[in-house]
Amino acid sequence: MNRTLAATNITVRFGGLTVIHEVDLHIRPAEVLGLIGPNGAGKTTFVNVLTGFQKPKSGSVRIGDTDITFTKPEHRARSGLVRTFQAVRLFSAMTVSENIAAAGLAIGLSRAEVRNRERSLVELLDLGDWVDVKARALPYGIERRVGIARAMVSNPAFIMLDEPAAGMNEEEAMAFLAVVRAIRETGAGVLLIEHNMGVVFRLCDRVQVLQSGRTLAVGTPDEIRSHSMVREAYLGSSA
Ligand SMILES: Nc1ncnc2c1ncn2[C@@H]1O[C@H](COP(=O)(O)OP(=O)(O)O)[C@@H](O)[C@H]1O
Ligand SMILES: [Mg+2]
Repeated sequence: MNRTLAATNITVRFGGLTVIHEVDLHIRPAEVLGLIGPNGAGKTTFVNVLTGFQKPKSGSVRIGDTDITFTKPEHRARSGLVRTFQAVRLFSAMTVSENIAAAGLAIGLSRAEVRNRERSLVELLDLGDWVDVKARALPYGIERRVGIARAMVSNPAFIMLDEPAAGMNEEEAMAFLAVVRAIRETGAGVLLIEHNMGVVFRLCDRVQVLQSGRTLAVGTPDEIRSHSMVREAYLGSSA
């Protein structure tokens, strides 16, 4: 069965301004796709289109043979396509355990299902030392990880992570590599927006480079690293 998440020929306009120009992108199960590019390139907008927060002017989004271009975010989440946001959204007065449980209850899981999901996510994301700690007392890297646990409560087929390692120190960023690898092990396809090229090149199976709303290159980390236009446009200036 073809369970690839595929966006085809996506164009997005805000008023008169075209910010995504006929972009194609796909993610296979158990694949980490890195989406990189300078600020304003259109990465978040593209994830909004994939997850139903932004309607494209044209183009389509499919999971396998099912067209989901105009379905609501909640509907996509129920079909296994979830995301995190650039800013963490946790309930600060609640513990890690309660934060994960709240996400499970919000999508209609029973208490028993919530307990099961919580147990497996705590193990998968290595949160065992933190379950009873209130969210407001968490170190930054752990806080981000709990945000991912909340998104993963539905056992998604695809998860979109918008700058999940932003603001992490180097140690937290390296621990984060293991988190994403664990997610891939579940068979989920991962889209990772990330500026830390060390993280991107270590972690991703493929990398897609956006620039001014267009695809500049797609390829393996090695291909992207040696791509002359990418080096000039992006890596040269920031790496
Ligand atoms: N809601 C909006 N209305 C108008 N312009 C927007 C909106 N969201 C994003 N943009 C513009 O679209 C472009 C792409 O933004 P964004 O997708 O946030 O880029 P990135 O995530 O790569 O930094 C930018 O020029 C940004 O200013
Ligand atoms: Mg962004």
